[in-house]
Amino acid sequence: MTTEELKKLDRSHTIYSWKAQKDVNPIILDHADGSMIYDTDGKEYVDFCSGLLNVNLGHNNAHVKEAMKAQMDKACYVGTMFGTEPKAKLGQMISEVTPGDLDYVFYTNGGAEAIENAIKAARAFTGRHKVYSCWRSYHGATAGAISLTGDPRRWAAEPGIPGAVKFFGPYPYRCPFGSTTEEEANTRALEMLKTQIMLDGPHTIAAIFMEPIVGTNGIIIPSKSFMQGVRELCDTYGILMVIDETMGGWGRSGKWFAIEHFDVVPDIMTTAKGITSGYVQLGAMIWNKKLWDHFWNHPFIGGLTYGGHALACATAIANIEEYKRLNLIDESARKGLYLEKKLLELKDKHPSIGDVRIKGLWACIELTSNRETKAELAGFADRNRNVSAELTKRMYAEGVYCFCKWDFIFMAPPLIITEAELDRSVATIDKALEYTDSLI
Ligand SMILES: Cc1ncc(COP(=O)(O)O)c(C=O)c1O
Repeated sequence: MTTEELKKLDRSHTIYSWKAQKDVNPIILDHADGSMIYDTDGKEYVDFCSGLLNVNLGHNNAHVKEAMKAQMDKACYVGTMFGTEPKAKLGQMISEVTPGDLDYVFYTNGGAEAIENAIKAARAFTGRHKVYSCWRSYHGATAGAISLTGDPRRWAAEPGIPGAVKFFGPYPYRCPFGSTTEEEANTRALEMLKTQIMLDGPHTIAAIFMEPIVGTNGIIIPSKSFMQGVRELCDTYGILMVIDETMGGWGRSGKWFAIEHFDVVPDIMTTAKGITSGYVQLGAMIWNKKLWDHFWNHPFIGGLTYGGHALACATAIANIEEYKRLNLIDESARKGLYLEKKLLELKDKHPSIGDVRIKGLWACIELTSNRETKAELAGFADRNRNVSAELTKRMYAEGVYCFCKWDFIFMAPPLIITEAELDRSVATIDKALEYTDSLI
């Protein structure tokens, strides 16, 4: 089929996410290899956001494909009541790389389902109903996860599940509490949270859900003292700390899990994406010993037909083996420093860059129309104008895929990316920023 025929077929039947269908005009991809994706006309693009920030290992990895084929020859799927070798082994491998006593794994199909089950587990464990989460957060598109989400993707799902309560996490670039330093922004956010919990009734709160580093709301990095303060609050009031590592896990931030930057161990961790790098879908909710002991004696009322899918577990095992063999967690940290240097050079050059935030190979440029006042350019939910469509178009033209949204340009390439591919992508962003500079 020609590309035009494929496009026509695609747009005749396929429903795409988040947009009016008339606004969808996808590039039709044909294949992918390493850090590159190729369309049906043979044009290549650097996959500078690793699909949806999930293909951490890169595309077309031979070891993963071999492991998948071998498992397919044995069994793709068996009922969740049965054990399998991949499920048993993967649990052990996850427990070895997750911090502290996060050693007990419940498998889901993705990040949102892991959050749904964490809500259930936290409520059952504590006997309380409120679940806290941040403004400027994303936790997934299912009922509970979207209720916890603190961005416009939640609006269409409102009123959402009962008991979902929001608080302001730290956002030093534009602190809602008028802080002028990063430290102050973190201290004030923690003080506000303490006050909110006191007013709301700590005995009514089951869990605080947080991304360790905020992902699609702009790579916002809290301080160690903020995260440790949240841990302390949870300990004081018997509230569970749930950290959502769907995006931050599996080397994305230069550590196995982003929470490791803060020397904090949550009670529950949720994850997905890089666990299989998207070769097939898998998510997980991981408990500490306290939860394991509780549910040893009490049923956990939750289950999914595809929980612990044999093919997905075998795929995850092969991913973890490759992360280790290729030293990709350290590589992410090392290449992240290289990318940071390049991005700071861009900041010197482009007045429309307000802020650069990065940990490992997980980065964001936040645009502004005025560096002094930090005024928004596109604005929250594009309330001033849309700049991301034009930015994306310009980057596609140069052969780079980069996820742009509102005032954010995200960069999260596969951890195997080469310096040459990084340079090429940054050069493309450099050129595209001439457009945003021209708007101010
Ligand atoms: C932090 C976070 N949590 C949850 C999700 C939802 O994951 P999924 O789309 O696999 O359900 C995402 C997806 O981007 C995410 O970034």
